[in-house]
Amino acid sequence: MPAASHPTSRFDLTIRNGRISNADQTFFADIGIKDGVIVEIGENLESGERDVDAAGKWVLPGGIDSHTHIEQLSGMGVMCADDFYSGTVSAAFGGTTTIISFAAQHRNDRIPAVLEDYSRRAREKAVIDYGFHLILANPDEQALQHELPAVIESGITSLKVYMTYDKLKLDDYQLLDVLAVAGEHGAMVMLHAENHDMIRWVARRLLERGHTSPKFHAVSHDPLVESEATHRAIALSRLIDVPVLIVHVAGTETVDIIRKAQQLGAQVYAESCPQYLFLEAKDSDLAGLEGAKFCCSPPPGDKASQEAVWAGFKDGTLAVYSSDHAPYRFDESGKLPKGDATTFKEMANGVPGIELRLPLLFSEGVMKGRLSIEEFVALTATNHARMYGLAPRKGAIQVGADADIVIWDTQRRTTVHPEILHDAVGYTPYEGREIQGWPVEVYSRGRCVVKDNALQVERGSGQFIARSRPDPVVKRAEPAPQRKAFGNFIGLKSAALSK
Ligand code: URP
Ligand code: ZN
Ligand code: ZN
Repeated sequence: MPAASHPTSRFDLTIRNGRISNADQTFFADIGIKDGVIVEIGENLESGERDVDAAGKWVLPGGIDSHTHIEQLSGMGVMCADDFYSGTVSAAFGGTTTIISFAAQHRNDRIPAVLEDYSRRAREKAVIDYGFHLILANPDEQALQHELPAVIESGITSLKVYMTYDKLKLDDYQLLDVLAVAGEHGAMVMLHAENHDMIRWVARRLLERGHTSPKFHAVSHDPLVESEATHRAIALSRLIDVPVLIVHVAGTETVDIIRKAQQLGAQVYAESCPQYLFLEAKDSDLAGLEGAKFCCSPPPGDKASQEAVWAGFKDGTLAVYSSDHAPYRFDESGKLPKGDATTFKEMANGVPGIELRLPLLFSEGVMKGRLSIEEFVALTATNHARMYGLAPRKGAIQVGADADIVIWDTQRRTTVHPEILHDAVGYTPYEGREIQGWPVEVYSRGRCVVKDNALQVERGSGQFIARSRPDPVVKRAEPAPQRKAFGNFIGLKSAALSK
């Protein structure tokens, strides 16, 4: 519990002498915080109830991780290793102060019950602020007409739909139905874009020939699997002029397709993740089943695709950098449901990354000169806030915003081992990496969450954040002339199509 503020002090907390970076500028100042909110930024501010000296340190907005799977049943029906306690503790130690996690509907679930269930579990356990995206697996009439509009109204202003996985996949007709409702009510649709039939056709032939080991996961997810589905998703979005956000972009061709669509004025946004900058498909070519620790969908590619993802972040094609933290233990509960006999088709898809997301990008991006600190802040916080309706409350150090602030020690050097992490996974695909720069003090709404390498808050002290409508970063162009009259004919409410 924070101490009551001193009667003569205007601030509960003053963070002094820091080098502050937002997405648009870097400057030196003090930050005055009252009741969890930044109330003043300036030079020589008066002391607060507590003073923190950030001299020599970098002071950044708390990270926002808008793609995390926590305490969730996956598309293959496997429960994640992290619950809302270990998942949010791990996030906080990595400099993240807000996560957006998935509340996953499976085919026979009703949406209100799904949300109630996830909300209760997160409320009891989360130590940082959180929101939800709805995973929609059954867009029936009740969902489309009633449940989805109510969900969006309640502050869950984004949803994720899948083009693959037997238990989650929607067909193109269903995707259009979902996009139309999202467009009408102002929600962001996140798309897992992979061609289901291409994957299963190749996978079946691999398995028939005895190619069962983890490295064949990447073979069965050829880069064309992602690029074809991405192209199709963009066409569906453009047909009815509704925004989409392609998540976990991995491949060179996919980055190019998205960039070209954006140049045409399509409302297409995109995300990528640490695994596509720092891992390669060949990492999964290990003895036994060890390679399963590196398998996610889409799979990481090669040096060229890593460069394409860096370029996409640099030129804004990829607006958000998230973890896609999908934590599965290396045992029968996760990666190895059939023990030593598990094939690449049976292991849980996904890699952990919630805690190392920011340190990896800080070290390889900012410290090595590939990204400016302002670009880092945009990719890790500010763009998430705008894309998912958290701005202006989160994503920037500014007066009126929540005091979600992380103090970085740029000189600290860390060698990655599973033991230094706080998730419940037991391994990390980044083991052995050398990292320069680390988030050493983490504040969420002015509460000190992490300091001196120790957690400072109670289980359940995070808050659900009801989000407003997304305000994407990239500006749209007019739809093609032949599609302009289209909206009226088929009863669409898209502004650009019903003019
Ligand atoms: O392999 C992955 N990415 N697993 C997590 C589920 C998803 O599709 O994001
Ligand atoms: Zn996905
Ligand atoms: Zn995911």
